[in-house]
Amino acid sequence: MTKTPSDASAQAHAAGDGQAMWGGRFSTKPAELMQAINVSIGFDKRLAAQDLAGSKAHAAMLAKVGVISSADEAAIQNGLSQIEAEIANGTFPFRDEYEDIHMNVEARLRELIGAASGRLHTARSRNDQVALDFRLWVREACDRSAAQVRTLQAALLAKAEAHADAIMPGFTHLQPAQPVTFGHHLMAYVEMFGRDASRFVDARARMNESPLGAAALAGSPFPIDRHMTAAALGFERPTANSLDSVSSRDFALEALSAASICATHLSRLAEEIVIWTTPQFGFIKLSDAFTTGSSIMPQKRNPDAAELVRAKVGRILGSLTSLMVVMKGLPLAYSKDMQEDKEPVFVAFDSLELALNAMAGMVADLEPVRERMAAAAGAGFSTATDLADWLVRTLDLPFREAHHVTGAAVKRAETLGTDLPGLPLSELQAIEPRITAEVFQVLTPEASAASRMSYGGTAPAQVRAQIQRWKDQLK
Ligand code: ARG
Repeated sequence: MTKTPSDASAQAHAAGDGQAMWGGRFSTKPAELMQAINVSIGFDKRLAAQDLAGSKAHAAMLAKVGVISSADEAAIQNGLSQIEAEIANGTFPFRDEYEDIHMNVEARLRELIGAASGRLHTARSRNDQVALDFRLWVREACDRSAAQVRTLQAALLAKAEAHADAIMPGFTHLQPAQPVTFGHHLMAYVEMFGRDASRFVDARARMNESPLGAAALAGSPFPIDRHMTAAALGFERPTANSLDSVSSRDFALEALSAASICATHLSRLAEEIVIWTTPQFGFIKLSDAFTTGSSIMPQKRNPDAAELVRAKVGRILGSLTSLMVVMKGLPLAYSKDMQEDKEPVFVAFDSLELALNAMAGMVADLEPVRERMAAAAGAGFSTATDLADWLVRTLDLPFREAHHVTGAAVKRAETLGTDLPGLPLSELQAIEPRITAEVFQVLTPEASAASRMSYGGTAPAQVRAQIQRWKDQLK
């Protein structure tokens, strides 16, 4: 006697077998290794909330357009809510034999409400389902990251405001270049992180279209209302091409790109914290909360958190690369390769969120050692440009000539073992007789910084103006 498909399906269900969902035309079970490479529930369980939200919106729409009865819809909604509760209280059975989150939810729904559960998958496929769930997850990740970046910016702003006029050396090539203020330096990161936050916002806006209803790849013959499900799930509109809907992951690539750029900014700041906390620099101190000791060298205070933030970029950028490579050779539409899209995204955003939070903590924690910074700011003839500028402004020298005169002054100071402000006026006049004592007013690091009043410059007044602008913006 030949078995009818529903017999086969019922039997498979009784055996707790994921093949029940698609095994109608199969006569033997998949090999164990097939299951091992195929199973994704271990990681895509993180899409449970999104999967349930998608199913609820889909069921409501199916009832509204008359594809399923309102009684079936009520049973489905009820069962989905029960599953939601089971997931919340940790009793939901995530089972490998049901392969992924979509089939785990459907199998559980069947156990809870019986036959009506089988109507939920009308006019839908796992292909649009996973595209939807993943998009919802990435959209939330972008929102969370943007918010965490804002929190970090707020921590930087508070520190910058407290030290808007603390003089420190500004560097190029990591060589002392010109004096800047610590507030100005921190505000450079506020700008970078501001662009990072806006990248997450932009990525979100572009990804905010619902793929649900694209079904397997070609759309659906049922009279579905994709605008209704799109609106219910907070999307701007439904996606306009069913093939694109199930086969595109550029929304995830874009989010990973934004995450990678943000991580490089975190890494640069982390690197500066590592440098600044060395005894050689001694520009800042981190409290015990963000420092670790050495098991053998009692004197050590290691900035481990900063180092780990610096290292996280490896995973995040690696995730972007990994998904780029997964996607680059795929013909349209869905291929199972795309199941490999989730883990890199989870890894990247877990790492980014941890790094952002740790950095916000470190920034709030760190205290500049103002005397060390100021002393270093005066070293290395850091006001040489100010001397040259004075010669241009006061004596009307061409800049090139002023540069030459200043070079001679630096050389003379070096020979005498002093810095520029310490050079006797007679020495300066031996190089350029028209120099007056007035020149010393511009040779201190404080005067140098205060003079840089151009928009965006390091003068404390300018720095405070930028801090105010950001405070208004972040309100
Ligand atoms: N677990 C799958 C994924 O993550 C769901 C989609 C499966 N679709 C299919 N046609 N096999 O991509």
